[in-house]
Amino acid sequence: MEFKSSRRDDTKITDSDLSEQIKAATKDSHVRAENTELMLSYQKGQITLPQYKLLLCSLYEVYRALEDELDRSASHPSVAPIYFPQELARVEALETDLEHFFGPHWRKRITVPAATQRYAQRLREIGKQNPRLLVAHAYTRYLGDLSGGQVLGRITQKSLSLSSNEGLSFFSFPGVPSPNRFKQLYRSRMNSIDLTAEERKELLDEAVRAFEANIEMFDDLQKILSLTASTDVLKEDETTVVSQKTLYHPVFQFTVGVCVALATVGMGMYAF
Ligand code: HEM
Repeated sequence: MEFKSSRRDDTKITDSDLSEQIKAATKDSHVRAENTELMLSYQKGQITLPQYKLLLCSLYEVYRALEDELDRSASHPSVAPIYFPQELARVEALETDLEHFFGPHWRKRITVPAATQRYAQRLREIGKQNPRLLVAHAYTRYLGDLSGGQVLGRITQKSLSLSSNEGLSFFSFPGVPSPNRFKQLYRSRMNSIDLTAEERKELLDEAVRAFEANIEMFDDLQKILSLTASTDVLKEDETTVVSQKTLYHPVFQFTVGVCVALATVGMGMYAF
């Protein structure tokens, strides 16, 4: 799909527009997402290869669900204005990166924590029951990828000493030459969606939920990483990330649960 500004897309954005309301509604959640341990590692330039590989696995599950559902609802009146598969779709890029890091049998090496499964499940659920809410999730991920995500790409390259763009396709949007211009277009498309007051409220609530799903996913990933680093299950070579079978083995899960619960209670962070 070409992305050319139309008159409607150039309309001035005001406080009552969905794009402004969604930004305001998720402002606190954005701060919380930025301050998760995983994102803080990123901002300090301390992202490690195991962290990045595990993150890619989870992003793959999330984008697969998001893009399956967006494709299915492409002609829904609320989804159609923000449907930009050529410019935004991430699944293929993630497949390229996963193959780069895990090798040709990468599909068998996908490992995701429970929070990622819940996030993907939510996307599939709303895709079937209330596709309008996909707008909140598409906004949260894609506009994030085109904002702070661009900085994270550069940090990843530097932190992991990657010489070329190999393994970094996720951050690259060849169909979006100017992220800022594209975000303006995206916002005006969001503002063109016809919503009742109730539908708007539901969509804003879902955006907060989308940020929450990301926060929970980052926290779960960090827990796995902390645990596997100390037990040496996760190493930095090709056979790195703990296999899905191991991760979901009842004994492993129980051990993870007990360790994480103890650590959490011990640190007085929040109830597990
Ligand atoms: C290290 C972590 C992060 C940093 C440093 C960061 C930074 C930023 C910055 C600077 C902007 C504003 C860009 C602009 O106004 O053009 C932005 C926007 C945004 N970020 Fe993040 N971000 C981070 C994490 C996240 C996460 C985890 C998400 C969601 C999963 C997210 C979602 C968004 C969204 C949706 C926007 C667009 C806001 C809007 O204009 O409506 N960000 N981010």
